[in-house]
Amino acid sequence: MASYDVIVIGSGPGGYVAAIRCAQLGLKTACVEGRETLGGTCLNIGCIPSKALLHATHQLHEAEHNFAKMGLKGKSPSVDWKQMLSYKDEVIGQNTKGIEFLFKKNKIDWLKGWGSIPEAGKVKVGDEVHDAKNIIIASGSEPSSLPGVEIDEKVVVTSTGALELGKIPKKMVVIGAGVIGLEMGSVYARLGAEVTVVEFLDTITPTMDGEVQKSFQKLLQKQGLKFILGAAVQGVEVSRSKAKVTYKLRKDDSEETLDADTVLVSTGRKPFTDGLGLDALGIEMTDRGQIRTDDRWQTNVKGIYAIGDAIEGPMLAHKAEDEGMAAAEVIAGKHGHVNYGVIPSVIYTHPEVASVGQTEEELKKADRAYKVGKFSFMGNGRAKANFAADGFVKILADKETDRILGAHIIGPMAGDLIHEICVAMEFGAAAEDLAMTCHAHPTYSEAVREAALACGDGPIHM
Ligand code: FAD
Ligand code: NAI
Repeated sequence: MASYDVIVIGSGPGGYVAAIRCAQLGLKTACVEGRETLGGTCLNIGCIPSKALLHATHQLHEAEHNFAKMGLKGKSPSVDWKQMLSYKDEVIGQNTKGIEFLFKKNKIDWLKGWGSIPEAGKVKVGDEVHDAKNIIIASGSEPSSLPGVEIDEKVVVTSTGALELGKIPKKMVVIGAGVIGLEMGSVYARLGAEVTVVEFLDTITPTMDGEVQKSFQKLLQKQGLKFILGAAVQGVEVSRSKAKVTYKLRKDDSEETLDADTVLVSTGRKPFTDGLGLDALGIEMTDRGQIRTDDRWQTNVKGIYAIGDAIEGPMLAHKAEDEGMAAAEVIAGKHGHVNYGVIPSVIYTHPEVASVGQTEEELKKADRAYKVGKFSFMGNGRAKANFAADGFVKILADKETDRILGAHIIGPMAGDLIHEICVAMEFGAAAEDLAMTCHAHPTYSEAVREAALACGDGPIHM
């Protein structure tokens, strides 16, 4: 048994970042993790492995579709699936070991095992009970279940199973056209699977800007993904390693079926708080099972904080990280700040999709007078040279003040391009500020500047 200023429960991007910041601020810190490796969902079964598979399969796509056009002739690479999975595992290993190194460097104790909170100020791991002046819960999330669908992680899988399938399926059905469904669906479509995405609502990625949704769906369809929208899945039957998915079209209640070798269930995630003992502590929860916190990430029990996927807000690694840093700063007596109005979200398909701030639909609903500056990557020289001219940058700015209210990008490196707009928004910038900033040529970033110019007197290259 030991005594700490802070014990963090969970070592995902929320937890490990909180632990590092606590240690940097001079607090004696431990982090409890039940998994074999540090890094949480993100590093082990989420962001990092999915991006490794997206990267590998994008290279394949480039070789198959664009190399010959540039005079790079020869046989397209063949896929060694086992090797691709080993590459992905290697990337996971490098990243999780990296966190272990950072823990050692910052003198953070890793308490191995599953933790619970028997009372405020105490954390139990195995048979040991440790004292903690402050506790940060960063226990993350797990996939939501779907009635009538039994997950076996072999034929009917969540994202976890989809990251290590025994073989590449011929036919894959994806339930849910959200971020996981479209990223993992893209991976398998590029590997030759026939991918059909079944979505309950009438659009894909329902929280995105409407124009981006439409363009995104068209581009994915061009890549071979099929969509069945407005369809409620009734159940999945598995027999001899084959699945039959039954769905009902909402418009006329007609029932249809789809055959698949693999079914990916990607209909959202829910907070994971099992075994922590929150009920007995009387910790308040929302009706969606999230831990309720105040604006300083403290629960209703003094000295117990919560961050990341386990609390309200978007389930994103960088949101968890920001909260981890902020909660640590609050505990150390500093200010701690997260600007929830400027949290970017990115889908790492090809092209990438990125957004920050408000959508046009949200601005209309709020009756806000706004203007739109839009620029297509067709007018960007670099994008044309790189076969990446699909998509556009769209900036939304206040009609009177020109202050940037939101931005939506579908196109090459959208996930990186969005950040200059995030920084501008943090500084309360007007679209004109971006438009007057010199951007290097030839870069994809010039499309951001042109969209900002389009909020004023107009873009140059359109
Ligand atoms: P987690 O990362 O879930 O970590 C929680 C950790 O706590 C886990 O390791 C768990 O074992 C541990 N734990 C829980 N309870 C206990 C306990 N009682 N005792 C000890 N340990 C415990 N987000 C992005 O921003 N970008 C992406 O590209 C992205 N890609 C994703 C791809 C996939 C396939 C998935 C599933 C998610 C993806 N996400 C992505 C979401 C991202 O992974 C999460 O938002 C992020 O991991 C949340 O961080 P967290 O620290 O709150 O929790
Ligand atoms: P999601 O919330 O992004 O999408 C779920 C989709 O499933 C929605 O379109 C929803 O309408 C649909 N759906 C729900 N019930 C359904 C049903 N019964 N039948 C058919 N469709 C149904 O959830 P997803 O993709 O599972 O991802 C979970 C979380 O992980 C997300 O919150 C996301 O933030 C995070 N994540 C982030 C990534 C990124 O930042 N690039 C990548 C992957 C995951």
